[in-house]
Amino acid sequence: MIKKETVDKILETAQVEEVVGDFVHLKKRGTSMIGLCPFHGEKSPSFHVSPSKGIFKCFGCGKGGDSVRFIMEHEKYSYPEALKYIANKYNIEVEETEVTPEFKQEQDKRESLYIVSNYAAKFYADRMWNSEDGKTIGLSYFKERGFRDDIVQKFELGYSPDDWSALLEAAIKDGYQQNFLEDVGLVVKNDQGKIYDRFRGRVMFPIHNFTGRVIGFGGRTLKTDKAVPKYVNSPESDIYHKSNVLYGLFQAKKAIRDLDNCFLVEGYADVLSVQQAGVENVVASSGTSLTTEQIRLIGRFTKSITILYDGDAAGIKASLRGLDMILEEGLDVKVVLFPDGHDPDSYVQKLGASAFKTHIEKAKKDFIFFKTEILLKEAASDPIKRAGVIREVVESIAKIPDAIKASVFIRECSGLLQMEERILISELNKMRLAKAKKDSQQPYRNSEEEPPIPEEYLVEKPIETDEYQEKDMIRVLLIYGDQMVNWDGLTDTLIGPYIITNLSDVTFSNPLYQKVIQYYHDELENGYVPKEKDFIQHPDSAMASMAISMISSPYVLSDNWYSMHNITVPNEVERLKGTVMGAIFHLKKKKVTTMITAKQKLIQEEKDEANVIILMKEYLELKEVERYISNYLGSVITK
Ligand code: UTP
Ligand code: MN
Repeated sequence: MIKKETVDKILETAQVEEVVGDFVHLKKRGTSMIGLCPFHGEKSPSFHVSPSKGIFKCFGCGKGGDSVRFIMEHEKYSYPEALKYIANKYNIEVEETEVTPEFKQEQDKRESLYIVSNYAAKFYADRMWNSEDGKTIGLSYFKERGFRDDIVQKFELGYSPDDWSALLEAAIKDGYQQNFLEDVGLVVKNDQGKIYDRFRGRVMFPIHNFTGRVIGFGGRTLKTDKAVPKYVNSPESDIYHKSNVLYGLFQAKKAIRDLDNCFLVEGYADVLSVQQAGVENVVASSGTSLTTEQIRLIGRFTKSITILYDGDAAGIKASLRGLDMILEEGLDVKVVLFPDGHDPDSYVQKLGASAFKTHIEKAKKDFIFFKTEILLKEAASDPIKRAGVIREVVESIAKIPDAIKASVFIRECSGLLQMEERILISELNKMRLAKAKKDSQQPYRNSEEEPPIPEEYLVEKPIETDEYQEKDMIRVLLIYGDQMVNWDGLTDTLIGPYIITNLSDVTFSNPLYQKVIQYYHDELENGYVPKEKDFIQHPDSAMASMAISMISSPYVLSDNWYSMHNITVPNEVERLKGTVMGAIFHLKKKKVTTMITAKQKLIQEEKDEANVIILMKEYLELKEVERYISNYLGSVITK
């Protein structure tokens, strides 16, 4: 485990605007900074970063947290991984405490898998550049295909010797464990228990994650024999998940961000050739159809994808539907076709870099128009088929989240489809409505998304519950708890302890709020006054999320509630005393009122005369408390 002192140092040093700024273009606005949220597709910025509070918060998708949480979310890192990332950014030395062997083993396993994968990549590259067969078979293959040395090196290409155990033996000799080689599939155990290298006599393409670590391999055969699979690929492992990897992203990501566009090709060879032509913003889906994760991965760097297709008509038709997914994620999609059975690799190798770039500029089409044209051509003059085309095109347009963009496409397509614009619009609206209905029935469409914060923590409930009062109390405690207030002109009092003492007779109905109170109470017992950051960084992520929501928005309560109670939010800092007392007494009043209602009910239901008298007495006492609180609120706080 990372030592507490190190963790503290990392948290103190991290500047949220710098950490986030490495991934999101931030603009200053007032005391905070804003940008386009990297966690959901959007065109106008709702992603806020507050340098003074050290937090980010997206008012579009709700994600929020401190620097560490940002890195965890954005890079899909664990908590310690995120801490280490930030430590590395600020050159902070990470000191770790001794941990249990089991824990360490678990932590170390992923690291070990990265290490053996990296070892293998180095091994294959070394064999290609420095061994006889590597040079005459592997390297000369790449040269024949027209790849320059710098490209071969940039992608760390290599050659696996045509031998059953070249890698295995070398790795064991160099002290690597066989089980890690097995776990990443570099060696395979057959049914008889015999161990052998997966990759033999193939040119090797290491696959990097986007931080540049080797996580898997593709190995291409050099034989033309159709019975031999063209590519052998690494299996899925703890570090390699095909569905969220794009070949070449590590080498391309800077160019993708700078040029604000990503070219998408099919194969390894296409990536190499296009890069070699000086077009560096290119990645490959590696033969499979694009996944949502891959689209989101690209979406972190740009909102614009250009797909480079080889001109095989059947393949194009089959992939059209898959592309709607990109529209759905809010990205712009353009398409470029290559003529005469060329793919990007063969085109650029044959005609050269500048012809390639010219072709892209000339042939680039918006996906919607591209799709419309292809389908129309196919339908020819068959009226039924044409009706189907209209449906399909409008269906795609309906996936575009940006309504203005969608309406532009509708207008353009009405020309292409020779169909009145208003008919297309009414069709579009029907589809949107149906989609909205479906979405509202299953609000969390992606099961991998973080489980939602339970409704009771976020949604404003009807006024009958204590939710508003409880929420406001917690908000005041979180924001002002460690500040001093001067109640009587003589003594300064810390607000947090004052609140906690005054709430000893109150139980919160919201369990999360009760947890906050308990935590605060326990820390006070330890002689520590919790600060905003303790909640923001709290290990209980439900508590942290809740705290961030409250801290980042002053308007947690509905405006209605404020006006009802004559509280003006912007002045609350100056009127700190009123704010604190108001929150405490509004909450207490609410609690008492609830108790009174409950008591009334008991009285109505009670049959025994003697009991009724006792209950009546309790009822009157509560009424007295309620009156006292009301008077207090009326005289001191609100009016
Ligand atoms: P291609 O056959 O277009 O491969 O398949 P390529 O990389 O362009 O190869 P060359 O030009 O013939 O050398 C596209 C991608 O599909 C995956 C690979 O990722 C490949 O790059 N693929 C293809 C496999 O995984 N296995 C296969 O057997 C074939
Ligand atoms: Mn190819």
